[in-house]
Amino acid sequence: MLSRLSTRLVRWSSFSSRLQSTKAATAPSIKLTSDQIYEREDKYGAHNYHPLPVALERGKGIYVWDVEGKRYYDFLSAYSAVNQGHCHPKIVKALQDQAEVLCLTSRAFYNDQLGEYEEYVTKLFGFDKVLPMNTGVEGGETACKLARKWGYNVKGVPNNQAKIIFAEGNFWGRTIAAVSSSTDPDCYEGFGPYCPGFEIIPYNDLSALEAACQDPNAVAFMVEPIQGEAGVNVPDEGYLKGVRDICTKNNVLFIADEVQTGLARTGRFLCVDHENVKPDLLILGKALSGGMYPVSAVLASDEVMLTIKPGEHGSTYGGNPIACKVARAALEVLIEENLTENAEKMGLILRRELNKLDKNIVTKVRGKGLLNAIIIKETPEYDAWKICLRLRDNGLLAKPTHGDIIRFAPPLVINEEEVLACADIIKTTVESFQ
Ligand SMILES: Cc1ncc(COP(=O)(O)O)c(C=O)c1O
Repeated sequence: MLSRLSTRLVRWSSFSSRLQSTKAATAPSIKLTSDQIYEREDKYGAHNYHPLPVALERGKGIYVWDVEGKRYYDFLSAYSAVNQGHCHPKIVKALQDQAEVLCLTSRAFYNDQLGEYEEYVTKLFGFDKVLPMNTGVEGGETACKLARKWGYNVKGVPNNQAKIIFAEGNFWGRTIAAVSSSTDPDCYEGFGPYCPGFEIIPYNDLSALEAACQDPNAVAFMVEPIQGEAGVNVPDEGYLKGVRDICTKNNVLFIADEVQTGLARTGRFLCVDHENVKPDLLILGKALSGGMYPVSAVLASDEVMLTIKPGEHGSTYGGNPIACKVARAALEVLIEENLTENAEKMGLILRRELNKLDKNIVTKVRGKGLLNAIIIKETPEYDAWKICLRLRDNGLLAKPTHGDIIRFAPPLVINEEEVLACADIIKTTVESFQ
């Protein structure tokens, strides 16, 4: 042990010699090819992603360009973060303007932007209070902490006995709590021990929820209105209404994880609006900043939110002035440009076209608004990865999930002509495997 430690110390070069070696690193002004970019990331970055080989350097609206100048339709939108389109001028301006004035104060002090944003966002979504965080997974963590506190302080659950219910196939990030509720071995295997107090029930199963809610220690059911990462799993009509009723009847909080489905993506401002239900806690992220900056939020009633007291939760960057300005601009863009209505209309056209694809290759099409997926019948000749590679060659970027599913989620600013052009690329690509 000691000798291993001393070897490590010997190999640890001084800061000044490391500084010297950075001079040999590629200067930012030298233009690399795509292949060189893949190699550099592979060498110096952790291998926790398996990107499609394409190296992007620019984005505008529904398009992105690679370092060789080739243009692509972006059909992933950074996992639904770029609903407003790449580099939306209004959001860019909000970011730039605020960055020149005040970026970060931490929550040790008040700032002149936070309250304005809090008032705007709570009124817009109809909740008493908001708790601002940065990433989606922090939003999920925040919601779980709030639910537990509410369970102890309001519902009267004995200390440390609170239970949160999740659905099979859920995805809300990669922290220890998030992977503790995951049913995907890629997410959880090798990362135990897991958080206690989580129960998993099948998705889209109201009887299972009813049974799980009988436990007097159940404090919340956290669920995506459509499961995004699981492959755009759309529950039966009536599921969200049923969830609302069961949670109300059993005094269990309904937490809607709308990090991916929210903010116009599914053809409603929130996906829960498809069934006109209001969750007790709403988690937002991704498009809350239009892809500009990590901004997330949890919205809830006073009864829930005020259970957390100073010092019990927070984040250095949460609610910083840039985030507040960017989020407000991002929300305004969705409203001013009618992106909810556009997502609904364009989604109908896209699914109509996708449903014309060869059923021997594309066995299923599903989705709502512009959150869609096709299921590929895998054969030795092709699979979802190979199809995505060829889509890329044909100028459209999408990414497989779970081997046989390809998600199609373009920025919501796409118009009919562009949807039809993309549907054509998808058709040509799929037909090339016939
Ligand atoms: C439904 C849902 N919740 C939470 C998250 C986590 O968001 P983030 O990656 O910003 O932490 C994701 C990410 O894909 C998601 O799809």
